[in-house]
Amino acid sequence: MKNILGLLGVAVFLFTACQKEMTEKEKSEYTIKGKEIATATFKKLGGELEKKMKEGGVSKAAPFCNANAGTIADEVANKYKVTIKRTSDKLRNKENAPNSEEKTIIKRFQRLIAEGKNLKPIVEKDKDGHPHFYAPIKLKKKCLTCHGVLGETMKHEADSIIKTLYPNDKAIGFKEGDFRGIWSINFNSKN
Ligand code: HEC
Repeated sequence: MKNILGLLGVAVFLFTACQKEMTEKEKSEYTIKGKEIATATFKKLGGELEKKMKEGGVSKAAPFCNANAGTIADEVANKYKVTIKRTSDKLRNKENAPNSEEKTIIKRFQRLIAEGKNLKPIVEKDKDGHPHFYAPIKLKKKCLTCHGVLGETMKHEADSIIKTLYPNDKAIGFKEGDFRGIWSINFNSKN
């Protein structure tokens, strides 16, 4: 009887462990897929943004981003049957606010940066057992037009345009290479 209970205990333990943990193979598959989806979204968003910047600078690009950033990400999300979110602890649009898991991941990346470590994507299961991909977003030089240091890399004029759309904007003052936030991609097959 004792043995059976013991075995049952092991079986229950393995079952729950399997649900929570992912194999290294699964993790690397979702890392590759996550990177592909983040790159596709980034290219689509960035391409459209650059077009608008050429057409009319920040006064054209910022309102475009305001109206379409979500839709563009959703289009890529539908194609891959995932949910895509970009989030940060220094938000521009409060609709992109991080949930508690995302806040933890942001803190984890910031701790690694403080320790001088390289950042790598993180794949883990969410509380419902769906694989979830997180990756850091770092700022490039071209991003500073709208996220840079006021009066240096970012013009006051650009800031005023952005502040009319996002009065509580916290997403300025960054330098090239700074950690801006994270990609948060959920592989929920029901999406
Ligand atoms: C033309 C101005 C402009 C440029 C250039 C720009 N952004 Fe943004 N960014 C915005 C706007 C506007 C939003 C808010 C979009 C929304 O409403 O979802 C935003 C939102 C974000 C967010 C989502 C989190 C939040 O705070 O709402 C991230 C992450 C981000 N930008 C990173 C970048 C990176 C990385 C680059 C360069 C590759 C970049 N941005 C270039 C204007 C810009």
